[in-house]
Amino acid sequence: MRRDLRELLGPRPLVLAPMAGGPTGAALVAAVTEAGCLGLLPAGYRSATQLAADLEELRARRVSRFGVNLFVPQGPCPDRQALDAYLAALRPEAERLGVELGEPRHDDDDWEAKLALLLADPPPLVSFVFGCPPAEVVDAFHQAGCLVVVTVTRPDEAREAVAAGADGLCAQGLEAGGHRGGTRDDLDGQLPLLDLLGALREVTDLPLLAAGGLGSAAAVQRALRAGALACQCGTAFLLADEAGTADAHRQALQSGRFPATVLTRAFTGRFARGLANRLALAGRDAPGCYPEIHHATRPLRQAAAARGDLEVLHLWAGTAFPLAEARPAGEIVERLCPAG
Ligand SMILES: Cc1cc2nc3c(=O)[nH]c(=O)nc-3n(C[C@H](O)[C@H](O)[C@H](O)COP(=O)(O)O)c2cc1C
Repeated sequence: MRRDLRELLGPRPLVLAPMAGGPTGAALVAAVTEAGCLGLLPAGYRSATQLAADLEELRARRVSRFGVNLFVPQGPCPDRQALDAYLAALRPEAERLGVELGEPRHDDDDWEAKLALLLADPPPLVSFVFGCPPAEVVDAFHQAGCLVVVTVTRPDEAREAVAAGADGLCAQGLEAGGHRGGTRDDLDGQLPLLDLLGALREVTDLPLLAAGGLGSAAAVQRALRAGALACQCGTAFLLADEAGTADAHRQALQSGRFPATVLTRAFTGRFARGLANRLALAGRDAPGCYPEIHHATRPLRQAAAARGDLEVLHLWAGTAFPLAEARPAGEIVERLCPAG
């Protein structure tokens, strides 16, 4: 039976962001659920088989209040020539690290298989990023009893999600760490969180999960006062004891070596916010070829991580990263959203 998004939230209006690539795993989802929040498990970069194992682990940890987050597939690279030129510019970095670039292949992140898995064994909620799923997909999840949340960064994307039948929207402000989550991969019309919440209220009364730069209780309260039902925080949990964040990423966040963040396409071919290291800055205007650039740079990023080379690693972080703390997740929840 499909519930209202309000009923699915725990006693605290806080949602753990799905952070693909390691940071959010079953242990972190279980810890925030225990602390009275809703946790979103990322399905991105996981095969359907890996996702099934993650869901099994959540069950073994007796987590029943959770959601699963899926990447909506992207169209093919719009400019092969620009892609080839960008990859040629990356080769000296690859040579320096003694690796070959990966094949710039296109894929759909195992979309159909993951849909089939989740429709056969539905979680309470599915959330989508990188665009709005077709209305048939939203309908199928509704039939299966799931709530559907779509990530939006602009009012036109919100209209699309409303038309597709979404039950709620994740409103991702410009401050957010990680990839921009909307349909279009450009920076036109992208708004800071509080402005975005105001603009979305003009087009829909669906419940909103506010995301982006929320690193303190005061920031969380501001977003709630601006009309959000709950706040979706990612970066604040990157250093949590239970997070699967890579050591190099943890070190970079705490080192003070990178004082700023930047929106860059350098690592994946889609705009994402991360610490402003050398490659993030040099490749910020790389062509919009996702996931081709993600696959091509993977060996480079793996070699850099193994060597502790922080200049060519994707170090996703929102603007509030200096407030992130290395503590148990339950304590981070209490700091962001004190009980009572
Ligand atoms: C390391 C990292 C990975 C992320 N991966 C995903 C993801 O897989 N799916 C998704 O919808 N959002 C992802 N995001 C974005 C979050 O959902 C959210 O918008 C963002 O964390 C909010 O901003 P904040 O990081 O400043 O709290 C990621 C963010 C970070 C920092």
